Amino acid sequence: MIAIHHVSKTFVTGKTKIQALDDVTLTINKGEVFGVIGYSGAGKSTLIRCINLLERPTSGSIFVDGTDLLKLKHKKLRQMRRKIGMIFQGYNLLETANVYDNIAIPLKLEGVPKQVIRTRAEKYLEVVGLQDRMHAFPGQLSGGQKQRVAIARALAHEPEVLLSDEATSALDPNTTESILELLLKVNKELGITVFLITHEMNVIQRICDRVAVMEKGRIVEQGPVLDIFARPEKALTRQFVRNESRFRIPAPLLQELKSTGKLVHLTFIGESAKDPALATLARRFDVLPSIIAGGIDQLKQESIGNLLVHLKGNPDQIREATNYLKAEQIIVEEVAD
Ligand SMILES: Nc1ncnc2c1ncn2[C@@H]1O[C@H](COP(=O)(O)OP(=O)(O)OP(=O)(O)O)[C@@H](O)[C@H]1O
Ligand SMILES: [Mg+2]
Repeated sequence: MIAIHHVSKTFVTGKTKIQALDDVTLTINKGEVFGVIGYSGAGKSTLIRCINLLERPTSGSIFVDGTDLLKLKHKKLRQMRRKIGMIFQGYNLLETANVYDNIAIPLKLEGVPKQVIRTRAEKYLEVVGLQDRMHAFPGQLSGGQKQRVAIARALAHEPEVLLSDEATSALDPNTTESILELLLKVNKELGITVFLITHEMNVIQRICDRVAVMEKGRIVEQGPVLDIFARPEKALTRQFVRNESRFRIPAPLLQELKSTGKLVHLTFIGESAKDPALATLARRFDVLPSIIAGGIDQLKQESIGNLLVHLKGNPDQIREATNYLKAEQIIVEEVAD
């Protein structure tokens, strides 16, 4: 549906050059929810703005349904851009227009007939649950409601793809959850592909099918959300998916634990989470497991468990025990010094 092909973007301000995107290649499939996560300044907004050409890449191509947007002239480009809607962290509503007009004005500018505008405004305000606030002004709405108006406005153009630049970053956790649910509904019920960028892993795990991790303008890792959670390869990815502070151990305790055995990080997915693997371990091998820290992350389709476990015993027995865990489909990683 959208293919970002070797896209780079350099900003030149005076004598300084900033490479905001460095050879980014990504494919977003029709019907999926794809997320990009990265810290501030990673280039996420630049990337999403390149997709609808709010920003022109310095090099590379942006294909939408096989057509390279960078090669299109005005009229054709406008047609292609109509397939792409966008929402922002700051909502970008017209403060002096009411909810209805916020949706109607951009449609009017596109020459959509009045009756169609009315039908669409009503339809999409109902989708976002704001049909009874049509005459309210943005100043009279909460942040979550404003974002709903912005979503209805984007949907009213009947796009095939919805781009979201940190749409929930200014919202509290409960409101974030309700907006994420709305995005899922837009994806499932209206069949709209969603491409979002965020710095919150919660957003990725809750609604995304695939994820890419971005750092300094580059994609460092990408894949299905479950795979990235189960086997994060890069240090940055681990930071995001593991919420590592919950596994941090004070140095003196770490020393003590290592002197009597081994520390392992265990990841359980789906069925493997149900087996009493640690109890079996204690019975079958001369190894005593104790749980140091742990947690469960709920992903869109599956839940995934993480445990930091100390295995007390001699090295040979510990090796046999970890082989047993691996055979039980548990992902075992030794905790490095
Ligand atoms: N119009 C611009 N002119 C010059 N530099 C820019 C411009 N837009 C972005 N940059 C620079 O490009 C880099 C990437 O910025 P970008 O806004 O894409 O990051 P981001 O990942 O969206 O960050 P945040 O999470 O804070 O929104 C930054 O160093 C930024 O200063
Ligand atoms: Mg940004």
